[in-house]
Order: sequence, then structure tokens, then C-alpha cells
Amino acid sequence: MTDKILYSVTGLFNNPDDIINAAEQSAKAGYKKYDINTPYPVHGLSKAMRIPSSKLGYVALFIGLGGVLFAVLAMSWIAIFEYPIVVGGKPFFSLPAFIPITFEVTVLSASIATVVAMLFFFFKLPNISHPLHDTDYMKSVSVDKFGISIQADDPLFNEEQVKHFLNTLKAEKVTSVYYDDEEVNTKHKVFEPKFIMFLIVVAVLNSVAVYFIYNKLLYMEPFNWMVHQFKMKGQQESTFFVDGFGMRQPVEGTVSRGNLPYLYTNNQAEASVNMINSLLPSKANLEKGQKKYNTFCSPCHGYFGKGDSRLRGQFPAPPSLQSEKVRNWKDGDIFHVITAGQNVMPSYASQLTAEERWQVILYIRALQRSQNARETDLQ
Ligand code: HEC
Repeated sequence: MTDKILYSVTGLFNNPDDIINAAEQSAKAGYKKYDINTPYPVHGLSKAMRIPSSKLGYVALFIGLGGVLFAVLAMSWIAIFEYPIVVGGKPFFSLPAFIPITFEVTVLSASIATVVAMLFFFFKLPNISHPLHDTDYMKSVSVDKFGISIQADDPLFNEEQVKHFLNTLKAEKVTSVYYDDEEVNTKHKVFEPKFIMFLIVVAVLNSVAVYFIYNKLLYMEPFNWMVHQFKMKGQQESTFFVDGFGMRQPVEGTVSRGNLPYLYTNNQAEASVNMINSLLPSKANLEKGQKKYNTFCSPCHGYFGKGDSRLRGQFPAPPSLQSEKVRNWKDGDIFHVITAGQNVMPSYASQLTAEERWQVILYIRALQRSQNARETDLQ
């Protein structure tokens, strides 16, 4: 018994008034390291014990200020050196824009620091044992007694004096509490190499697990039919084709949608027979034809197709489209000239779609009719 280390001397009382008195007297006597244990909260105790206000507030203050400093410095660094991008005309260091993140980082760091400091420095986690645990004293104060425990590490502590002091306060039962052998060895477990090793192992295992879950498990596609198919990408080399090119020419004769090739480039006679205007001389078609004719044909052929070119002196004037010859031509002949060109007149296939060419032809027919009206047209 004697070689055990003394933790404290405890005294038990029967009612709240006695314990408040004991607290007051202890504080008055100058004891600093003592604690009171009661079965339920007793009002006025902390005042009687003269407990100084918690130091936790300072932890929150300093870590919070550290958060402010870190957030502002990090954002300034990023905005000024890493990504100097002008956003909405703001300067690179723009405090108002930094406020929300600064606020968040401050609150986050202060609150996390408070919890960690409370658990690990004030409650001495992971040291979960306490000399008062499992004593008759603790059993009594958990039921119906009020106890005071004056610790041996108080500067004024002297076992005999404290016992005497508690007896003068009319404590019911005064006992000494000793550390368990086990507890002595595990007093400051936080800084034990064993515990630090444990933290490192947990950190490594945690990292591996997170890496595996996020990078492997979540990206394991259940069906990979289309994700991993054999295919060539642009510019890629091919071992399959003899010429080594991954990119291939379309199969010969391939025609893209809506772009049927013109088959009669050198054969007006066949075009005349085979190319037939499928459009009706509707108002919409004629108007579209007029617009395209005035834009693309009238500079040389004139607004009425009479060959009165506005480009005289710059380009040979064409023959009249009102001629007997052109009036007797089939639509296919005109289509052929627009599409393939004729002597000095170039092809207009790239300026006019096939449909627009047919619309222009409808308009030319209307022009011819307007200049060569029959007697019946006037009736
Ligand atoms: C740059 C001037 C120019 C433009 C623009 C032009 N042509 Fe011509 N066109 C000519 C010339 C020059 C000829 C005569 C070519 C020749 O010597 O056979 C001609 C001939 C023709 C002929 C045959 C006439 C004939 O008697 O052999 C037709 C039909 C014709 N053009 C239709 C058109 C149509 C339709 C357009 C509008 C899509 C058009 N041209 C635009 C200059 C032009």
C-alpha cells in the first residue's frame, strides 16, 4: 500500500450546503487542484470553487486567427502569383471577395481546434482511466453523497494537513486515493510511441482504403462492352491496314447526304433529257428564284435576261436568255449551264443548291414569258 503513489485525499458530505461550504473553505485555504463530485448539478458550486474561466476560448481565438491568416495569405498568393486573372475589373487582392472563404476557414479551424483541444489536452484522451474511477468514493458520489477530492499535486498539499482540514469541515468519511500501478504507467498515453505508431498505422490504412474506394472501386464499370472497344482515334497509327494509316478515305462512290453528284458534267444532251424540274412555279419558289437570279445572274444577264450586262468592259457580255434558242431549251439544258458552266461562264454549283438552281430556272421561264407574251395571255 505504502509504495503506491498518492493521487488525492477525498471527503464525503451528506448534503449540498456542506459541499458548497467545503468548496468555499478549500478555495479560501488556497487549494487550486481539487475537484468536487456530486450526484446532480449543484447550483453555485463553480462560484464557490472559484473556478477560473476555461482556457478553451484562447485556443479558439488563436487557431481562428491562424485560420484568418492562412485563408487570406493562401487566396492572395493564388490570386496574385498563381492565377493573376482580372475578374470583373477587380484588383488581384480583393478583400471583399475573400471574406466568405476567410469566414468559413476561420469558423472551421476554430471549431475543429476547440473539439480536438478539449478532448486531447483538457480531457487527456486517449487516457480514459482516472484514479477516482472504481473507488468507493466514486460509487458514493454517484448515488447520494457529495464529495471533494484534493489532489496530491497541489502545491499546498500535505496528506495529514488535508485530512485534518476535511475533518474540521465535518466530512463524513476521509480517505486517500492512490494511482493503480497500471494507471501510473499509462498516465500520458497521448505521447506514447505506441500510440503515435497506432495513429500512423490508422492514417496509412485509411489512405489506402480511400484510394482504393475512390480510384478503383467506384470506377469499376460493371459492363465494359463499349468503354473498352477496339477503335482507331484520329492520327493514330494502324497495324491493321497495309499503308499504316488509322484514318481511312471513304469507300469509293460514297455520297454525303443531300449532295448527289452531278452526272452529266460533259454531256448536256443527256442532262437535257434526264434533269427534270420537279418544282411547281409557286409564289414562294418564284420569289426565291428571283432573289437568287438578281444576286447571281443579273450582273451579267441583266434583270430581264436580255444580256444587258452591268459588267460591260470587265467581262464578256452573254447572249440573251430571251433568245429563241434558250426559250426552246429544256429546263435540263439551263440546269446544265448553271451547274457545269459554259465556255467563259463559270459554274454556279457552289453558290446555288440544286433546289435554288431549279427555282432560278422557274424565274427565267417567267422572265421569258413576260417578254414574249402570247395573245391569249392578254385575254
Ligand atoms: C459573270 C457573268 C455571268 C454570270 C454572273 C452568269 N452568266 Fe450566264 N453566261 C455568261 C456568258 C458570258 C455566257 C455566254 C457563254 C458562252 O460564250 O457560251 C453565258 C451563258 C449562259 C447561258 C447560255 C446562253 C446561250 O445562249 O448559250 C445560260 C442559260 C446562262 N448563262 C444562265 C445563267 C444563269 C441562270 C446565271 C445565274 C445563276 C448566269 N448565267 C450567270 C455570263 C454570266
